[in-house]
Amino acid sequence: MDKYPGGMYISAEDPTRSLRSQDTENGELLLVGGENHKTGQGVNTQNHYDLLVNYSRKLFSIEDIPYRWSTQDCMTVDGLPYIGQYTEKTPNMYIATGYGKWGMTNGTAAGMVIKDLIIKGDSPWKDVYNPSRQTIKASAKKYITENYNVARELLKGKLSPLPNKVEIKRGEGKVIEADGQRCGAFRDTLGKLHIVNTTCTHLGCELTWNSAETSWDCPCHGSRFSYKGEVIEGPAIKPLDARNDVNLIERLIKEDF
Ligand code: FES
Repeated sequence: MDKYPGGMYISAEDPTRSLRSQDTENGELLLVGGENHKTGQGVNTQNHYDLLVNYSRKLFSIEDIPYRWSTQDCMTVDGLPYIGQYTEKTPNMYIATGYGKWGMTNGTAAGMVIKDLIIKGDSPWKDVYNPSRQTIKASAKKYITENYNVARELLKGKLSPLPNKVEIKRGEGKVIEADGQRCGAFRDTLGKLHIVNTTCTHLGCELTWNSAETSWDCPCHGSRFSYKGEVIEGPAIKPLDARNDVNLIERLIKEDF
């Protein structure tokens, strides 16, 4: 068990881990990052948090874990961010996105490029980061793989069978079938049931339950919704439909105290 030596680190091997620290009035906060995964896919998010905690405890003396969170990063198909004029037809609109987990460096680059485009009308990096660039050679493989992944997740969500009888404990969320329709049910700590339509309002994939953050997550393009259906993360912009027939659904499932 060691004290953190200071500095910022990222591992070269898999699984990736990053470390940095921050002094606070309550002592030193150690920030441990890693467990990269696609939103809404793979193992339960809680497993990812557990692995980071185990890793941290092996190396350092940890008194408390006051915060934990997941962040979503946009990745472009050729690996470089999109920075610059949104399209040729929108001269006063600029975008900066697709930082691929390197927000501090790519965000700084975006500020420099966009500043030059606005003030000087040009930038030496304009073509490299051009949001409308065509980089078929660098993009094709990833583009095909990602589209295959989306199609697979779309079908999986629509076709996966649902159990006939379900029991939903407090703090638990599940996809259930009610009146022949798929819907998402979450029971809060007071025992109240919250039911939403689990079809993503972006392009219609079926959402999965994220028990670590009590949210509905989309495996296709990463949208996330609260258990009440509010949008937490895009690309979706519309909330999920809440179902009003909660009493009917309540009779179909059981609560276990
Ligand atoms: S279908 Fe859900 S984010 Fe695209």
